[in-house]
Amino acid sequence: MTDERTSGSQNGSAGSAFIPLHSYYILSPVRNPLIVALDVPDQDAALRLVERIGPAVAYYKIGLQLFTRCGPGVVKAVKETGAGIFLDLKFHDIPNTVRHSVDSACALGVDLLTIHLGGGGAMIRAAMQGAGGRTQVLGVTVLTSSNRETLREVGADVPVEDQVLRLARLGVEHGVTGVVASPLEVSLLRQLFGSGLTIVTPGVRPEWAEANDQQRTLTPQAAIRAGADYLVIGRPITAQADPREAATRILAEIEQSP
Ligand code: C5P
Repeated sequence: MTDERTSGSQNGSAGSAFIPLHSYYILSPVRNPLIVALDVPDQDAALRLVERIGPAVAYYKIGLQLFTRCGPGVVKAVKETGAGIFLDLKFHDIPNTVRHSVDSACALGVDLLTIHLGGGGAMIRAAMQGAGGRTQVLGVTVLTSSNRETLREVGADVPVEDQVLRLARLGVEHGVTGVVASPLEVSLLRQLFGSGLTIVTPGVRPEWAEANDQQRTLTPQAAIRAGADYLVIGRPITAQADPREAATRILAEIEQSP
């Protein structure tokens, strides 16, 4: 655990004030943009990974798989290492339930959490009320696994990009200050919403890593240049023989000039 890590684990109001990672320096005076996805089967595996990566990464994403298996205890355990937590449970329910669920997540001390913007304005406002400025609420627009046909199936017969922008606008209108976006949407979102919107991007791949099942990727360097603030990276770090070295290598690549 390091002081730098823990110093950033409280977030004030949201938006570009996603202070924790901005305040964490490694390699050079540039914020550390890495969030490592803890896509592992249990708490022991999660803690082993955090231990092996050490101070190269300040934030970890706990998603549905790990949370459903281990419950809030895994959030507490990872947090106790000094790391920051991105709880990616993508809440989508009636406003009252979302408000209380976000409140419960905040009580766990998470730094970031996700809601589906498709839940509509009232649900988004309820999420913001539940958070009460204690955590940054990120909006998920259209999942990258969805395509035009998926949207048509559920009654939204519009191009994916239109739906992404529509939902991002809805989110911002109702108080969301950050979104999760695929690498290919980052640049447009940055142009339209400016620097006030925090953009978190999964699906990035260094040139030396396997693509795995990710289809539309950018390198970490390209995603940051396109305007991403933070990168969610799983297997290119977690599946390497030396995950700490992989994280450090990615950070060094991001910092290289073009
Ligand atoms: O191993 P990999 O780098 O592909 O992991 C990416 C992480 O980001 C996974 O936890 C995955 O669920 C998540 N994610 C994604 N694409 C999205 C949203 C989340 O890959 N559109």
